[in-house]
Parts: sequence; structure tokens; C-alpha cells
Amino acid sequence: MTCQSYVLKGGNRVEYTIKTLLTREEVERRIKELAKEIEKDYQGKDLLVVGLLKGSVVFMTDLIKEIDLPLEIDFMSASSYSGTESTGIINISKDLDIDVKDREVLIVEDIIDTGLTLSHVRKMLEERGTKSLKICTLLDKPSRRTVEIKGDYTGFEIPDEFVVGYGLDYDQQHRNLPYIGIVVKK
Ligand code: IMP
Ligand code: MG
Repeated sequence: MTCQSYVLKGGNRVEYTIKTLLTREEVERRIKELAKEIEKDYQGKDLLVVGLLKGSVVFMTDLIKEIDLPLEIDFMSASSYSGTESTGIINISKDLDIDVKDREVLIVEDIIDTGLTLSHVRKMLEERGTKSLKICTLLDKPSRRTVEIKGDYTGFEIPDEFVVGYGLDYDQQHRNLPYIGIVVKK
């Protein structure tokens, strides 16, 4: 458990600890399993892996190294979050460079929470004429869902807790933790 006392971007000081939920070994093992499933399903297909910035970066880099197939990658930035609360507003601050028309697209996300971000991104990419569109998420908080959406490949279902690490942040901090931890406020 790591002890933190941190001044948020807004100026408020918060004190919290980070309690391990999933160890580095558990996460790494599961990523290898997901990669092998993806590898099996995309044999002979022209795969384009799309990461949603910034949360998916750590997961995605580990994932693609384990997929033994020709593939391309691209990134998009779509966010609905500020601090720990969902605003419900989706902002696309960076769009894809690659045209997804007729492509077999796999969206990689860090976590599905309310599902708002992904349902918006999915609709947008489908409207551009993808040949297929699937979702791979490291984490899923099904109890928080407000729109119907499911990962085709899901690493772990987790309880309704705010988590950090492996790409996930709390006020932009802790993305580099090599495990998934719950933010426990004091
Ligand atoms: P959604 O649109 O509510 O599904 O939000 C998804 C996004 O919210 C994720 O890509 C994360 O960036 C962020 N998010 C949701 N839950 C957490 C969490 O527990 N920790 C850190 N970020 C989270
Ligand atoms: Mg995100």
C-alpha cells in the first residue's frame, strides 16, 4: 500500500492510500490470455488496433506485443472525465490518422464505467464504415453502466471503486503504477 498526500490541479489537498486490487503478475497473465484470444479471432484479417488516449496506452503496448499477427495501431482521444466524476460530456481532442473505412477495428480501452465514452466512439467509427468493430477493455465496472455496451474482450470485472495504475489516472497521476490499485481516501 502506497501512502499519498497530493495537491490536485484545482488546488485542494487530498490524502489517500492506494490499495492493491490486481497485482502486476495477475494483470500481465490476463493480458497474455486476451492477446491469444484476439490472435485466434483475427487470423488472416487486416487488424487495426485503436487505443483511446491516455488511459489505454500502458495496457495497449503490453497487449500488442503479445499478438503475433500483422497489425496497425492508431490513437484517438475521447474523454468524459474530470477528477473522479463523470461529466457525461464527451470531447474528441484527437481524432484518428488512419481511415477506418472497411477496416477490422479493435478499440482498446482502459476501463468501461458508465459506457458513455465507448458508445459514442463506437457509433462514430461505425458511421465511418468499419468492416467490423470490437472492443477490448482491461477493466469493466458493470454496476456503473448507464448505456448498454459490453467488451468483446474483458480483462477483469471489478467492483464500483475508483482505481489507478496500468494507465488509469487520478487527476493525471499514477498511470505508471505497474499494478491496479483502489484509491482509498482518508
Ligand atoms: P465512461 O464513459 O463512464 O465509461 O468512462 C470511461 C473513462 O472514464 C475511462 O476511459 C477512464 O478514463 C475513466 N474512468 C472510469 N472509471 C475510472 C477509474 O476507476 N479510474 C480511473 N479512470 C476511470
Ligand atoms: Mg479513458
